[in-house]
Amino acid sequence: MKIERPRGTRDFLPDEMEKRRAIEKVMRRIAESYGYREVLTPTFEHLELFTIKSGEGIIEEIYAFKDKGGRDLALRPELTAPVIRMFVNECTGMPKPLRFYYFANCFRYERPQKGRYREFWQFGVELIGSASPLADAEVISLAYRIMDELKIEFDLHIGHVGLLRHLLRDLDENVASKIMRLIDKKDIEGLESYLDETKVDSDLRDSIFSLVELVGSRDIIESAREIIPNFDFSHIEKVCDILDALDVEYKLDFGIARGLDYYTGVVFEAYAREGLGAQNQICGGGSYRLAHLFGGDDTPATGFALGFDRIAEICKVEVVRKKKVVVVSFKGLEGEAFKIASMLRNRAVVVTDVMERNVKKQLSYANDINADLAVIVGERELRDGKVAVKDLKSGEQKTVSMEELLDVI
Ligand code: HAM
Repeated sequence: MKIERPRGTRDFLPDEMEKRRAIEKVMRRIAESYGYREVLTPTFEHLELFTIKSGEGIIEEIYAFKDKGGRDLALRPELTAPVIRMFVNECTGMPKPLRFYYFANCFRYERPQKGRYREFWQFGVELIGSASPLADAEVISLAYRIMDELKIEFDLHIGHVGLLRHLLRDLDENVASKIMRLIDKKDIEGLESYLDETKVDSDLRDSIFSLVELVGSRDIIESAREIIPNFDFSHIEKVCDILDALDVEYKLDFGIARGLDYYTGVVFEAYAREGLGAQNQICGGGSYRLAHLFGGDDTPATGFALGFDRIAEICKVEVVRKKKVVVVSFKGLEGEAFKIASMLRNRAVVVTDVMERNVKKQLSYANDINADLAVIVGERELRDGKVAVKDLKSGEQKTVSMEELLDVI
């Protein structure tokens, strides 16, 4: 019986994995160069970690289950809540700010389509302990650096959920949260009918629509000020100052609502310009407060997660491969072949025959797997302390001593 993999999951073959690892390496290198250190939390958590504040959008998509002890558990749909839980449990005594990064799989019960999976990977960072615009500027510029270095064509949009929340402050929390979600989905029709249904007054309605349509350069802050005169724009202005100094290209977009409920301030998203269709959001993040909900002190934090699979889909990273060598041996010389292979493995990728094939078939396999060189171990050469080396690309063959072999490889 053939067993298919579950819907929304994927298998990754070696070529794909090599590419994914090369991309991951770039992300790790850049995050580490900013002082971020890797953390890892469990694949499953108590369900309530995500139901407390992650928002209905996520809750509907959670892979939740009961374990044999009757506990309600969930596969993590994201890593921000788990990292903050870990921070509250283990790290409150550490010097602040804390800079953590992660690369891990997440699970969401969504309708699968191009770029949207039920198991997917996020590379993300959380900067814990600062409410300063400097912290937001740092994480935004870090996300930007990673996407830029991976040569992705993208648009970075930065907003502030504080504005929308300020407008919606007098509404029932569930109504406000539903409005945020409709804005996040850019579902304008849905938003209109929901505002009708909940009888939101026309001034507020106008303000909501004017605000979410504000997308552009820094100048739109002035228009936003007209809509919400008593809002303090100095935080977002400072973020812009720093990003401008770093030549980070972005648009301000006060229609960013984010699908998760925990954000409190600056939020941002990056969209790939090509290659992904509808699921083109490759990065999402912002500042938020969660620690107090998990039993800790109220601690500001900011961070982002890159959609690793979406990035892998569009990114053309160069994979640097080591030379591949096949040590081919005549019958009875397998031990010698294994010894020579061991000697060469700190210089190249070296494989030996394990199928007990004849020399011709071993060479043909070497070609099939795209090896660069074949080292042929034969009785006569070995007596003189030598082996034959065949360049599989040019077909050229020569006999060399063991010392010379090391130079060739
Ligand atoms: P998010 O926007 O829900 O944010 O997810 C971050 C990124 O993960 C998205 O921009 C998208 O590229 C990718 N992603 C989400 N769902 C899927 C899926 N089903 N298949 C493939 N890729 C997907 C968060 O998760 C926040 N925890 C980010 C954050 C960190 N905010 C503060 N710190």
